[in-house]
Amino acid sequence: MIKIAPSILSANFAALGEAVSKLAAQGADWVHFDVMDGNFVPNITFGPNTCKAIRPLTDLPIDVHLMVEHPSDWIEPFKNAGADILTIHVESAERHLHRALQAIHAAGMKAGVVLNPATPVSTCVHLLSECDLVLLMSVNPGFGGQSFIPETLNKIRALKAEIEARGLHTLIEIDGGVNPDTAKQCVNAGADVLVAGSAVFKADDPAEMIRTLRGS
Ligand code: DX5
Ligand code: ZN
Repeated sequence: MIKIAPSILSANFAALGEAVSKLAAQGADWVHFDVMDGNFVPNITFGPNTCKAIRPLTDLPIDVHLMVEHPSDWIEPFKNAGADILTIHVESAERHLHRALQAIHAAGMKAGVVLNPATPVSTCVHLLSECDLVLLMSVNPGFGGQSFIPETLNKIRALKAEIEARGLHTLIEIDGGVNPDTAKQCVNAGADVLVAGSAVFKADDPAEMIRTLRGS
């Protein structure tokens, strides 16, 4: 079953609580929470305080995508803010990714790495046993509303083959430019979780869009 994780980056920030409260009834599986530090990416969004504020508004897992230079600094704060899943970029300044993934698990959360479009799948191969999920960026991180980069499909196939060959259960999550058309291509290539920002929040009927993206 494909999971859909709406990115609240594309929600109306002036009515964020309302948007989050509706997601479960609209059929979402996870809440995707894009943290940007204005350093790793050229944009700033929100942090643990906002996560803590939305935590009581939904029972869905909060999937925190850390687009920050020093992700290890944010493991405890996000744990305390009620996050369920933490993903960290292999391109960040974190030198000890394996240890950081272990620290996320030790804090009681699910852990994963994120790869930018230019980063080869090989960079996560030796981390897979510590990853509940791998997030493949299908746009360059920093902004919602960009176009899907088709080369991502080859990365999904390569990663899926590696996961299956090793008998692992690591989920493949895709983030950026997901719409009904690219969603289908990602699922056919082997994706398990689809992040969708503008597709869901700009839709006239978000529930219908979530069903369409999932293919059910
Ligand atoms: C981009 C973020 C994405 C973004 C996706 O840096 O990581 O989660 O919100 O937005 P769409 O679906 O509009 O491409
Ligand atoms: Zn994201």
